[in-house]
Amino acid sequence: MKGFVPTPHETVDAMVELLFRSRLPHSDDTVLDPGCGTGEFIDGIIRWCERQGLALPRITGVESDERHLPVLRAKYGRLSQVRIRHADFLTDDRAKYDFIVGNPPYVAITGLSESEKARYRARYASARGRFDLYILFFEQALRSLAPSGQLVFITPEKYLYVDTAGPLRDLLARYHIEKIHLVREDTFAELVTYPTITVVRNAPPGRTQVRRRDGGQVTVELPLGRDSWLPLLEGSAPQQAAVTLGDVCLRVSCGVATGADNVFVRPADGLDPGLRRFARPTVAGRQLTPETTDIPQRFVMLTPYNRDGRLLPFERLGALGRYLMHDDVRERLLARTCVQRKPWYAFHETPALREILRPKILCKDICERPQFWVDRSGDVVPRHSVYYIVPRDPATIDVIARYLQSPAAHQWLAQNCQRASKGFLRLQSRVLKRLPLPDDVVRAVSDGRASAHLESPPRQMELAFHAVSPR
Ligand SMILES: C[S@@+](CC[C@H](N)C(=O)[O-])C[C@H]1O[C@@H](n2cnc3c(N)ncnc32)[C@H](O)[C@@H]1O
Repeated sequence: MKGFVPTPHETVDAMVELLFRSRLPHSDDTVLDPGCGTGEFIDGIIRWCERQGLALPRITGVESDERHLPVLRAKYGRLSQVRIRHADFLTDDRAKYDFIVGNPPYVAITGLSESEKARYRARYASARGRFDLYILFFEQALRSLAPSGQLVFITPEKYLYVDTAGPLRDLLARYHIEKIHLVREDTFAELVTYPTITVVRNAPPGRTQVRRRDGGQVTVELPLGRDSWLPLLEGSAPQQAAVTLGDVCLRVSCGVATGADNVFVRPADGLDPGLRRFARPTVAGRQLTPETTDIPQRFVMLTPYNRDGRLLPFERLGALGRYLMHDDVRERLLARTCVQRKPWYAFHETPALREILRPKILCKDICERPQFWVDRSGDVVPRHSVYYIVPRDPATIDVIARYLQSPAAHQWLAQNCQRASKGFLRLQSRVLKRLPLPDDVVRAVSDGRASAHLESPPRQMELAFHAVSPR
């Protein structure tokens, strides 16, 4: 079932309360529940009307999955005020509704067929990048909202800050977003979505009341445009970034994807001497633990590329060629999809070795709190679960690393990075590149020297600031 997650009663009741808070529904008002599943919200509206002693408004539930229809028919077949439409809400008609409430499906782009992706991209301004169905449900619901109509959705909080949802924020900010309530993480039991209830009125923009998970509240004016709303929601104004990390770095990227680490990554100890000239120290995210004081170098990556990142001709691979030709090894390499477009012994992605083999800063792709390691020698080839940050000028590596390790940078990253499960952060390169640098760091970097920051580093920074040991 595509994105079927029923909403618990108490959340439904709280949302229906918000839906009708500013205006009681009349019997000829229309209410839409897009993606109604087995009718949790319809039931909630019926409960609410019974409690209030009010007649039911005209309710439409739209559901694309026919497996829910028997339940829906059994529940509402005899209620003239409830109509169930078996339809795709995203390609449905453009009727207007006075009230819209629901829990749209959370279905990542990877769960959509090619034809669905193409259809949605053609139809929705918000279907950009790696969009999710709930984002499109938001856009379609806004289109379906009558003037002064009220919309209440529960969705993942990610739309507040991920780049992919920039076009949706741009759309939403043209309406009056009355409330954003970041609700309990365990609202959907095991499912970690960081749920958020958003209340929108089809009226010109006004102030938004935000309730955070820690109970704190702020009232904000959301900006027009695509920028993340998180800094505002957390009560700090967005920083104006004159200079960002991306500006002072040659490259901020995800590590090397070989497509077959079980072939190319080998223990450093006991390596066949013939393979040594192709072996470069490598590290995976899971090996960068908070306790590590050095970048661990227990593994090497066998690299059939020269320092410029050019694939070596097979006949020049010697012992590496012989190793790769073993039946089981060759089979594993041939099983990769990338071999349709590149030589069978190449990596899945061509490694940017010219930039990688320079002094750089490393961090894990997913972490509880950001932490950075300095590869001063530039020898380490990060694996796909590690991001690498290459300063334009190697002399500025410490000043940049120290800033990355500072509370100010951590706060910005916590506000701008996407979240993985358990509140962990995803440090993606496009977010890292946007990290604003304060003036003193910018000055130190443009002077090309290690700043005074380095001379007396605070103790906790020193502890968390690791360097690769010289070999
Ligand atoms: C997260 S569930 C919510 C179900 C119900 N509203 C609730 O809160 O308990 C989302 C529902 O949307 C339905 N759905 C997914 N894609 C849809 C589409 N394109 N049009 C209509 N319904 C869709 C799914 O089948 C699923 O029942």
